[in-house]
Amino acid sequence: MAAVVPITVGIGAFGILYYIRKWFKGGVCRSKTRMDGKTVLITGGNSGIGKETARDIAKRGARLILASRDVEKTKRIATEITRESGNENIVVKRLDLGSLQSVRNFAAEIIREESHLDVLINNAGVMCCPYSKTEEGFEMHFGVNHLGHFLLTHLLLDLLKKSAPSRIVVLSSLVHILMFGIHFDDINSEKSYNSWIAYCHSKLANLMFTRELAKKLKGTGVTVNAVHPGIVVTELTRYLNVLVKYFVILSLLPILKNERDGAQTSIHCAVADELENVSGLYFSDCAPKKPTRVARDDEAAKRLWELSERMVGLKE
Ligand SMILES: *[C@@H]1O[C@H](CO)[C@@H](O)[C@H](O)[C@H]1NC(C)=O
Repeated sequence: MAAVVPITVGIGAFGILYYIRKWFKGGVCRSKTRMDGKTVLITGGNSGIGKETARDIAKRGARLILASRDVEKTKRIATEITRESGNENIVVKRLDLGSLQSVRNFAAEIIREESHLDVLINNAGVMCCPYSKTEEGFEMHFGVNHLGHFLLTHLLLDLLKKSAPSRIVVLSSLVHILMFGIHFDDINSEKSYNSWIAYCHSKLANLMFTRELAKKLKGTGVTVNAVHPGIVVTELTRYLNVLVKYFVILSLLPILKNERDGAQTSIHCAVADELENVSGLYFSDCAPKKPTRVARDDEAAKRLWELSERMVGLKE
């Protein structure tokens, strides 16, 4: 009889966990919108959330451009997606966001070859890598996740404007809530480095960039929204120590999403008809959420914008 209590508590706890998990998993993109005739560019579409996003958008009939550093792997993924969706209109291009020259070459190629661009999804990113620098000497997270995409978006803006109504989707993350601000006094984490903080820092930058860009795009027919995909175990965590990884995974088990679930908010922001005129927002589980006060600091966002312009060489 004595076993009844722990068993009941165990089942109860399991039940509660199950419902918490289900609740957190929420946010499925229910849009049935077709994308025939549209061109969608995804950075890093060869694994994790990007791949699931690409897969969904391919099924909607869009022309897909997958931009990645690993062309061979991405070509295999493209073939897989074509086989599955019947969509043969998928091109793979080389893009290294850790090199501004690569970003410039890539953008020039897109402008030369594409007559329009309807959706740009800034999806690629690095997470928790050891201290390293991009080709131009920027800290890797800030350089790839923020600056590379900052320049890419800037270079593709005219094409996006010409294609209006068009959209930009920026992958940010809930982890921006851990930051007290942009590290203007040590933007490349040269004085102190922690890979998690560097990741969170870059995700805050992504969110501030989105809000500032939305202001600049007012009236152009180009919208930009940021996304928190959910807590997803992807290859992004490849840099984490195995023990840390299992600890993180175990402790987050009830709220973890698989990659398909994690892609839903990106897909929603890229395709949902009702978002045609929605811009400058932060979405989580396919619904707008209020970013932290730090992330809503418009002065800091403006300062980050001007600094980024100088860092990528758009301004003196
Ligand atoms: C977006 O704005 C345009 C122009 O004002 C309007 O024609 C269109 O119906 C709007 N779309 C939605 C979904 O509200």
